[in-house]
Amino acid sequence: MERFMEGKICMVTGATSGLGEVTTRALAAKGATVIVHGRDLVKSETTVRNIKEQTGNSNVEFMLADFSVLSDIHHLAKQFMSRYQRLKVLVNNAGAFFYKRQESVDGIEMTFTVNYLSHFLLTNLLLDTLKASAPSRIINVSSGIHKRANINFEDIQSRRKYSGAGAYGQAKLALVLFTYELARRLEGTGLTVNAVNPGLVATKFGLDGSKVMAFMKRLINVFGQSPEQGAQTIIYLATSPEVENVSGKYFEKKRSVESSKASYDEATAKRLWQMSFKMVGL
Ligand SMILES: NC(=O)c1ccc[n+]([C@@H]2O[C@H](COP(=O)([O-])OP(=O)(O)OC[C@H]3O[C@@H](n4cnc5c(N)ncnc54)[C@H](OP(=O)(O)O)[C@@H]3O)[C@@H](O)[C@H]2O)c1
Repeated sequence: MERFMEGKICMVTGATSGLGEVTTRALAAKGATVIVHGRDLVKSETTVRNIKEQTGNSNVEFMLADFSVLSDIHHLAKQFMSRYQRLKVLVNNAGAFFYKRQESVDGIEMTFTVNYLSHFLLTNLLLDTLKASAPSRIINVSSGIHKRANINFEDIQSRRKYSGAGAYGQAKLALVLFTYELARRLEGTGLTVNAVNPGLVATKFGLDGSKVMAFMKRLINVFGQSPEQGAQTIIYLATSPEVENVSGKYFEKKRSVESSKASYDEATAKRLWQMSFKMVGL
């Protein structure tokens, strides 16, 4: 395979399984220097070892961070910047589903923190490096479920009423609103940002111990795509020259498509940005 990503530094969050792992392997196979973000030491070591063996690319390393801990995100950004001066591609992919409401060590609802807020923070901390590396790209892995959600500013952390799907939908909508707001702020910089819905993919995602999710997973395992199929649009956005100048779009199956009506509301996007900025203490 042509190693046209040689010399390009890429980071994939949640790279120790599923879509993130497949994306990382594809980037390494194309010659990129890849930072595998993981939260577990043994899993991260294993992922790096496997990807090096499978691709013959030795420029793969891991960095650890729990995305439910905001100080971990600061540490991850610092660790990255102490090793590298450039970042061509950032894939914000880590995600999790919480059937029951939980709070992080920072006192923030877990779905919102892991799926959205930590990526908002990481992206902002790495923004100068990404801009200095232009043309460069950010890819936010969202979900079609965002279409069923709104941002509930009165109860953003679902304290009054919680459902796993509701909180997950809101976090994935937040990612799309963040994508569009960031794209507006980055106009003319050569740094692009797009969101992607991978569709239903048979990964370990959502296995949180609940019976409902276990049933859903059985269906997805039969009818869903393989992780290799599901990752194709992420890999396309990270590497294809076709989308080098495309920004502020939502993709499915390598095509820019409409996201929900709520996701295009600029006032909501600005309000969310300001609120997120305060929540992460920037
Ligand atoms: N699968 C689908 O049908 C589907 C559909 C739409 C969108 N998505 C999105 O696609 C992305 C990738 O999901 P996937 O299907 O590939 O699932 P996956 O196999 O479960 O991968 C999720 C990744 O996120 C990591 N992660 C979870 N919680 C974390 C935390 N607190 N801190 C750091 N890392 C954490 C996981 O780490 P560990 O390996 O340590 O658990 C794993 O590497 C997610 O954002 C998900 O919302 C998936």
